[in-house]
Amino acid sequence: MNIVLIGFMGSGKTVVGRELARKLSYKLKDTDGIIEERTKKKIEDIFLQEGEDHFRDIEAQVIDELSGLEKQVISCGGGAILRKENVLVLKETGVLIYLKAPFEVLYDRIKMSTNRPLLKVREPEQTAKKLLEARQHVYEQVADFSVDVSNRPISEIVSEIEKSVRKNI
Ligand code: S3P
Repeated sequence: MNIVLIGFMGSGKTVVGRELARKLSYKLKDTDGIIEERTKKKIEDIFLQEGEDHFRDIEAQVIDELSGLEKQVISCGGGAILRKENVLVLKETGVLIYLKAPFEVLYDRIKMSTNRPLLKVREPEQTAKKLLEARQHVYEQVADFSVDVSNRPISEIVSEIEKSVRKNI
């Protein structure tokens, strides 16, 4: 079984994933990290040079491969659940956990970042808000359960995930 972390940019998928993987002795697989390693390009350069669709194709390929393995914490890019096929393959071998927080908390964490191509626009706050509004119900719908990640210590979030996962498997 895998543990799959989903959620918006800034929800802490990588940090929570790292701690969770350490505690469970699972491997941590970060889809964005794998894409950057494989293409030898930064995510923002892929978006810029080849476009979002191309990025989504590589992302889907990586997710498909990861789903075939076991005992991993898979930290997915925020838009990975937009493709239904990704959700289907992830669910075959994994429990999907939505790391959830209000927009203000998320935006506060991502507003200074320079490596998020979707926010490199004239009105980043408005854009992020619309993106979250459009995606929120998808995260809720595909997740096996949600964990509140706003203003809580990582250790507490990780313990809650561990408990919920035990109940689910
Ligand atoms: C994206 C989120 C990013 C990255 C890419 C697209 C999105 O990952 O995959 O910039 O569509 O929300 P993080 O959620 O880790 O920032």
